Amino acid sequence: MNTTPVKVGIIGAGNMGGAFAKALSQLPHVHLFIYDRNPHKSNAIAKGKEKFVVCKNADEVAVSSDLLLLSVKPQGLLELVGAITPKLNSNKVLMSIAVGVSTQSIADAAGHVCPVVRIMPNTPLLVGEGVFALVLDDPTLSPEIKQVVASLLERMGKVYIMPESKIDAFAAIVGSGPGFMYVLWQAFEEAAVALGFPRKEAKEMVLATAKGSALLAESSGNDFQELYEMVASPGGTTIAGALHLDRTGTKGHIADAIMKSYLRAQELALLPQK
Ligand SMILES: NC(=O)c1ccc[n+]([C@@H]2O[C@H](COP(=O)([O-])OP(=O)(O)OC[C@H]3O[C@@H](n4cnc5c(N)ncnc54)[C@H](OP(=O)(O)O)[C@@H]3O)[C@@H](O)[C@H]2O)c1
Repeated sequence: MNTTPVKVGIIGAGNMGGAFAKALSQLPHVHLFIYDRNPHKSNAIAKGKEKFVVCKNADEVAVSSDLLLLSVKPQGLLELVGAITPKLNSNKVLMSIAVGVSTQSIADAAGHVCPVVRIMPNTPLLVGEGVFALVLDDPTLSPEIKQVVASLLERMGKVYIMPESKIDAFAAIVGSGPGFMYVLWQAFEEAAVALGFPRKEAKEMVLATAKGSALLAESSGNDFQELYEMVASPGGTTIAGALHLDRTGTKGHIADAIMKSYLRAQELALLPQK
């Protein structure tokens, strides 16, 4: 295990900044500095936890930390980077989780004073099951820094190092993925309620089925079609339902939803950034 202390700053303590804060606070040898322009958010995250220093402003986070996690919405990211740039130097690293904002534009906004990495996380980070894309394309990143960032993420979940050209696709599948899963599970829950199960029990049944299905798929090594055929026996009930999904083009619609998400990431990249 890497025991070198790491000073991590978090700017933006919303959904994702909060998830990172929770996951990072469980790692030994990580010191945390946090700031959100809504102080109640950073105070709530840090409450009762010695690991956190709640900072008065973004500059203080930039000065105090070595790795700066920028967890604000894409639209405000470059303005934030421009504002903290006087506090940056070549020993610091900017880590952006924003969808659709390129390494190049972040590095330009920071005047190329320090290296930039992009990370694409998802919310299961909150329960230690994060899945991350890590983009290390910035040519100014040293092998040592790449290793520090990758091993930090590996302590919080599964990491895929990939070129920046793939990150929007990854964001649509993995970043937005939990959102799509929840919409599907809501449909299961509604059906269970319609069939007479109390809502609480319906939710538990759906979750247990989702969890078991994921574990089976992972442990068996079978592909999804083989696993489907284990359930859809000839003349049975599953095939009757599955044919309805085929007739209504549901699989195609789900794939299209992911494509829409991917296109939105590309659209965000084209919008003028503040
Ligand atoms: N949510 C996801 O599942 C997910 C997945 C992958 C990637 N991401 C990326 O993660 C980033 C954050 O998303 P989120 O869902 O966590 O957003 P969020 O819940 O809105 O959190 C952002 C927080 O940062 C604060 N903030 C904005 N500008 C600031 C500044 N200059 N200084 C200090 N605090 C500032 C916001 O305050 P205000 O509310 O006042 O604006 C808000 O509290 C986005 O770039 C998104 O693309 C999110």
